[in-house]
Amino acid sequence: MRDLCFPLVLLVLLVGARCPAATGEEKAAKGGKPWLDTGGLSRGAFPAGFTFGTAASAYQVEGMALQDGRGPSIWDAFVKIPGEIANNATADVSVDEYHRYKEDVDIMKKMNFDAYRFSISWSRIFPEGEGRVNWKGVAYYNRLINYMLLRGITPYANLYHYDLPEALEKKYNGLLSRRIVDAYANYAEFCFKTFGDRVKNWMTFNEPRVVAALGYDDGKFAPGRCTNCSAGNSATEPYIVAHNMILSHAAAVKRYRDKYQAKQKGRIGILLDFVWYEPLTDSKDDQDAAQRSRDFHLGWFLHPIIYGEYPKSMQEIVQARLPKFTEEEIKMVKGSIDYVGINQYTAYYMFDPHLPKQEKPTRYQSDWNAGFAFERNGVPIGPRAHSEWLYIVPWGMYKAVTYVKEHYGNPTVILSENGMDDPGNVTLRQGLHDTTRINYYRSYITELKKAIDDGATVIGYFAWSLLDNFEWKSGYTSRFGIVYVDYKNLRRYAKMSAYWFKQMLDRGKRN
Ligand SMILES: *[C@@H]1O[C@H](CO)[C@@H](O)[C@H](O)[C@H]1NC(C)=O
Ligand SMILES: *[C@@H]1O[C@H](CO)[C@@H](O)[C@H](O)[C@H]1NC(C)=O
Ligand SMILES: *[C@@H]1O[C@H](CO)[C@@H](O)[C@H](O)[C@H]1NC(C)=O
Repeated sequence: MRDLCFPLVLLVLLVGARCPAATGEEKAAKGGKPWLDTGGLSRGAFPAGFTFGTAASAYQVEGMALQDGRGPSIWDAFVKIPGEIANNATADVSVDEYHRYKEDVDIMKKMNFDAYRFSISWSRIFPEGEGRVNWKGVAYYNRLINYMLLRGITPYANLYHYDLPEALEKKYNGLLSRRIVDAYANYAEFCFKTFGDRVKNWMTFNEPRVVAALGYDDGKFAPGRCTNCSAGNSATEPYIVAHNMILSHAAAVKRYRDKYQAKQKGRIGILLDFVWYEPLTDSKDDQDAAQRSRDFHLGWFLHPIIYGEYPKSMQEIVQARLPKFTEEEIKMVKGSIDYVGINQYTAYYMFDPHLPKQEKPTRYQSDWNAGFAFERNGVPIGPRAHSEWLYIVPWGMYKAVTYVKEHYGNPTVILSENGMDDPGNVTLRQGLHDTTRINYYRSYITELKKAIDDGATVIGYFAWSLLDNFEWKSGYTSRFGIVYVDYKNLRRYAKMSAYWFKQMLDRGKRN
């Protein structure tokens, strides 16, 4: 039925008529088979109150990057360096959610989602990072939040998604300076005070590991620092930056808890990316390499937040290069989450490369002393999506979520990103027929459900992303959306996977 039905759907979509997904839904409603196979997944399969949403970030979707009073972020500076971004693309316009937010929220509603995880652009609120407020930027987030609430979409606001105000980078090297802690906490507090009457779900940082590793170890992300870059030190700066982000996070949480939480009755946490690292063999050396990888990846942030110190393996390896928390700081950092967001996409095999001991430390990634493998005995770990880092490994979801449960005291978790990409140049027709993405979501969400059934405290799931959008270094050559965007005119076209979510999240049915 799918195969017969879909070309017809496409044809009608292309001529811009009323969306005909109803054809399938009507049949389903009349007692026929469901239009798309949800694999037994439905709202009813998840704990009561479980939230389903989509996630995005300000710089990737808003556009209006240098307009309406917004100050530049380090990404606005970075994308202007020729050769850094595929096709020298920028996010000056991107998918223009700044103007099209109502349409986007309407799509979320139509697809039966409950929530939207968006991010606030610090430099849209404080163009210089501190001091003067850009009230036009404040007004934008008020419009967005109010419209979400009007349509019954719950806002999940993230305060930092890679986009440090460029002014602070220029003034004192941004995240490398301790001065960032106060500047960040002030910005966060402004947001709590201004939006917290309506926003009840806060996140301080998205993927601070990516910020530290890609921004300061290999220099592939803004601000593009590394030992071999024009400036930087890959052996020390990633640790300094991570330390300052942990302190910034904790300082913001403290402000929220001291001054706003009791009255506003919201929750606050942090968003951490987590690749599942599976030992390549069951040798002790490979198991240790996989454990070091988990420590250097997730433990770097979650360990201090849960236990008040960096993982022991990191302390032993990084030694004096690893900054220390004072007693006072430990009190602030330990326990500084109401929930943790886990961004989970992929898994790799890890092995001990048996390298001679480093004479002199070179970089964060070498400190892992672990090798990556993408196949075992000639069998790939999974098929690859478009992005070279993204292998499709559903069982990694179960293991990652279960690991957090077992090693960190079963904290409250939001599965805050999950998804896969197609190449940017797929045609609209190919793009809409995204059966690989449907299989990805069905299999990963099935593994997530298994982890929940086995006791993990997970309260929400966010697909990355609603729309195709600006994918950092890849520019527009990578499409993660469940909705296709025609970049010539920014028209949105729901892919098959969007209708899959619509059906899976149907409130009237229990599939
Ligand atoms: C990016 O810009 C640089 C400098 O203008 C140019 O040499 C290069 O060819 C551009 N790359 C693409 C893919 O357009
Ligand atoms: C810097 O580049 C050299 C030469 O390519 C390489 O051997 C070295 O590993 C690089 N150092 C770091 C820290 O990336
Ligand atoms: C998309 O671009 C890649 C190269 O980046 C090329 O190999 C592929 O054939 C292109 N696909 C289409 C549908 O044009």
